[in-house]
Amino acid sequence: AAYRTDEGQPWVLPVVKKVEQKIANDASLNHEYLPILGLPEFRANASRIALGEDSRAIKENRVGGVQCLGGTGALRIGAEFLRRWYNGNNNTTTPVYISSPSWENHNSVFVNAGFKDIRAYRYWDAAKRGLDLEGLLEDMESAPEFSIFILHACAHNPTGTDPTLEQWKQIAAVMKRRFLFPFFDSAYQGFASGCLDRDAWAVRYFVSEGFELFCAQSFSKNFGLYNERVGNLSVVGKDTDNVQRVLSQMEKIVRTIWSNPPSQGARIVATTLTCPQLFAEWKDNVKTMADRVLLMRSELRARLQALGTPGTWNHITEQIGMFSFTGLNPKQVEYMIKEKHIYLMASGRINMCGLTTKNLDYVASSIHEAVTKFQ
Ligand SMILES: Cc1ncc(COP(=O)(O)O)c(C=O)c1O
Repeated sequence: AAYRTDEGQPWVLPVVKKVEQKIANDASLNHEYLPILGLPEFRANASRIALGEDSRAIKENRVGGVQCLGGTGALRIGAEFLRRWYNGNNNTTTPVYISSPSWENHNSVFVNAGFKDIRAYRYWDAAKRGLDLEGLLEDMESAPEFSIFILHACAHNPTGTDPTLEQWKQIAAVMKRRFLFPFFDSAYQGFASGCLDRDAWAVRYFVSEGFELFCAQSFSKNFGLYNERVGNLSVVGKDTDNVQRVLSQMEKIVRTIWSNPPSQGARIVATTLTCPQLFAEWKDNVKTMADRVLLMRSELRARLQALGTPGTWNHITEQIGMFSFTGLNPKQVEYMIKEKHIYLMASGRINMCGLTTKNLDYVASSIHEAVTKFQ
């Protein structure tokens, strides 16, 4: 799913347009191969965005980045490393826990890396349209030690529901006590709240708690660089040596999967992150996208409440990020698609970016009809 403007169009971020011009006019650049692990300025600055300016782990020189083909590439490379080297070698039977529900590709990526025991952990409580914290913690308590847990850093896809800071602390405490490995997937940093730091809170908290972890970052959404395939896998280890050893294995893995990463997206991101003025412009562009989604949420909720649509609609504004679990049931979804030509997932998930000031009334009245016709 991708961002769309209020005109329903893809958006090239103004800062990206500007940096692309700069790159095109820079005679010192060429198309030689990059290092296997990617552009050094990109790797370091991407990790800095994830872990924070004053990250203890970065100061202690125990963070490494791997430039990857999007967030998916970062997950795939991270999964491959874990299967080969995580806890002894050949970890095909190590359980990998994925939230229920989750982005559907998580399962396939880990299966493709050779993991055979993929499990679901409870996440979504349909009845209360919110996080099933109790279920989640129970599943962590009963997971075998050293299991791998995929955690959505922010803006959980597809539910739009994240743990609160207090809940993250509880999750971290259980994971630490039970020796569970956090593998963060950060595909929407900045998109959830409009603020990069806020959206990275969970990852940074885990690092501050002393976890060794992976964080797969995607710049597809927050830079609008979907087809440039730009992502970073941040490796946080216990010391410099440890991280260097991990990176040397990562190099071998990358060599056989894509051999060498593409430069354009990484150059755009690195140029933006290393120049204070461009960095400020980017943050502003991210906020523009996040604010539009927030506005659509509050406008949709207000319309449904004004129409007196049965049920409660506060979840529309309580959820964050690009997606919303509307709570529409399969019959209601079918009605929306067949009769109203409003396209959403069978699960009731909508992409908030499909909403515009022009179609809000139509969408709201269609939801109202669907909900009143089919209980
Ligand atoms: C939760 C989640 N993780 C990862 C990705 C992968 O993004 P990319 O296109 O950068 O591979 C997505 C994209 O939809 C996503 O929603």
